[in-house]
Amino acid sequence: MEIRKGKREDLQYLPAILMEAYKGIEEYGEKNIEKARKYIEDLYEEDPECFFVAEDNGKIAGFIFCNRFWYSKFEHSHVGAIHEVVVLPSYRHEGIGRILIEKAMEKLKPSKIELWVGEKNENAIKFYENLGFKRREKTGKWIRMVYIA
Ligand SMILES: CC(C)(COP(=O)(O)OP(=O)(O)OC[C@H]1O[C@@H](n2cnc3c(N)ncnc32)[C@H](O)[C@@H]1OP(=O)(O)O)[C@@H](O)C(=O)NCCC(=O)NCCS
Repeated sequence: MEIRKGKREDLQYLPAILMEAYKGIEEYGEKNIEKARKYIEDLYEEDPECFFVAEDNGKIAGFIFCNRFWYSKFEHSHVGAIHEVVVLPSYRHEGIGRILIEKAMEKLKPSKIELWVGEKNENAIKFYENLGFKRREKTGKWIRMVYIA
């Protein structure tokens, strides 16, 4: 497994991975592959330097998008943001998610980091808590979590 910087050419593979990864928690994912494509493209454009993929023998197993320049209305300042992290179900529980987050954190430091997670996405909430994120506000079905170095 190799964790490397993502490239524009990688984007074409990500909508299908995203749709697969959100099976069972569809309410927090994208409605269809077209929407997923647009979402991925927008995330990439926000901060292309803050995009990493986990690759296994040429196959993308997971990815992360972050943003070094995110304005947080909750913090009233610019913070680092993690906008999306996914690992394909068949590659989970091997620590790939953790490595992707650590890679993003390295890129975002020393900023405070913000992310939003679905309230019923307990696996992800626990995963973030294990990495040092703390729960903050709830807005609709989303919970804001922050990491302070
Ligand atoms: C959240 C997500 C990215 C985690 O990916 P992952 O690669 O499975 O993450 P990790 O392996 O680093 O850690 C996940 C769990 O596996 C455990 N784990 C890590 N290495 C392990 C190993 N070698 N053997 C067994 N378990 C292991 C971790 O302790 C953690 O378990 P816990 O949370 O119960 O303590 C993945 O589940 C996912 O894609 N979910 C769907 C999309 C999503 O919800 N994204 C977040 C949106 S905000």
